[in-house]
Amino acid sequence: MLRFPFFSLLVPATTTTTTTTTTTTTTITLLRPLTTLFRPLTTHLPRIRTMAPTVLQSTDAQSTDPHHPTIVLIGGGNMAEAIAGGLLANGYPNHRIRVSEPLPERIAYLHDRYPTLNVLADNHVALRGANPESSPAADVVVLAVKPQILRPVVTDIAPTLRAANPLVISIAAGIRTEDILRWAGAKDVALVRCMPNTPALVLEGAAGLYATAKVSEAQKETAERILGAVSKKVAWVHKEELLDAVTAVSGSGPAYFFLVMEAMEKAALDLGLSPDVAKDLTIQTCLGAAKMAQTSPDDLATLRRKVTSPKGTTEAAINTMEEGGVRRVIEAGVRAADARGKELADLFGKE
Ligand SMILES: NC(=O)c1ccc[n+]([C@@H]2O[C@H](COP(=O)([O-])OP(=O)(O)OC[C@H]3O[C@@H](n4cnc5c(N)ncnc54)[C@H](OP(=O)(O)O)[C@@H]3O)[C@@H](O)[C@H]2O)c1
Repeated sequence: MLRFPFFSLLVPATTTTTTTTTTTTTTITLLRPLTTLFRPLTTHLPRIRTMAPTVLQSTDAQSTDPHHPTIVLIGGGNMAEAIAGGLLANGYPNHRIRVSEPLPERIAYLHDRYPTLNVLADNHVALRGANPESSPAADVVVLAVKPQILRPVVTDIAPTLRAANPLVISIAAGIRTEDILRWAGAKDVALVRCMPNTPALVLEGAAGLYATAKVSEAQKETAERILGAVSKKVAWVHKEELLDAVTAVSGSGPAYFFLVMEAMEKAALDLGLSPDVAKDLTIQTCLGAAKMAQTSPDDLATLRRKVTSPKGTTEAAINTMEEGGVRRVIEAGVRAADARGKELADLFGKE
């Protein structure tokens, strides 16, 4: 397990050992922020969950506040909004966060939704700071644009990025660090690649992170706290290719559960339940099962067996599903996502 100075704010959750096809063993360390033990810090963001004040180690001497490095998000879309909103709700100072977004309608929306957030239309100005005295250059840059446009964006900001020399965190799905470093024209940039997931939008995310060799322990801590603003679980992987596995499990995973819930809801309707009841019972059952799995000392198989009485209704269902090959299909699906992630990385990174 990686040791960071802020460990007093975290509860060690689980240590998982993953074996790859080449039998290399890699440890993924999960950390659980103590997000639920703190009192509200803001009242103007009702949909944002209450969390601990975020205190980070500065990565740049330019910052006057060493605990709150200046964070610049390039791209002001859904994920950037979730991260910025999560940081603000954590008590992170608004003048330490800048968002760069080209679309005027989106800028207007962000200004309206987060009146204290500094939203700019120019990536270079966002990176440098509009006024060097009052707005220092970026200590941390979060690349939050779509994967398809990451290359032109990084190529364009490369000189400004090299001048600011920040910690760079890419959340662009599937783009490898070697490609981002090549586009930035700087092999010595400290770069963290991250795979968050859609539940980050409701502050229930799970994220995998990989750090390049230039990333210091303090910078890892910084990346963890930023992603921790929207993710309940943050896991480091020690080999970049394992981010494809993270993508296949937690990145794409929400869709697998939506599919299962769709099928359950359809069956409930077919059995005569009303649409509202079918939907509500399905969703709450999924949520309740997840909470039990998270809080129980029992493993998943034991939990399943405990609700499967011999010759009962659950057994009838489980036997039917097993005969239909449900495990094989789900495992094959996860493997297909892993393989597709590698293909997409080859495609996006070839230029
Ligand atoms: N959403 C998720 O659950 C999720 C999960 C894992 C990873 N990710 C990754 O997170 C990244 C962002 O995803 P998202 O869902 O937040 O996408 P998004 O909502 O489309 O956000 C991307 C934003 O970047 C803006 N943009 C476009 N060109 C730009 C430029 N040249 N400079 C600065 N900003 C620019 C876009 O503006 P326009 O609207 O004008 O194009 C848009 O607002 C993606 O790379 C994705 O792979 C997302």
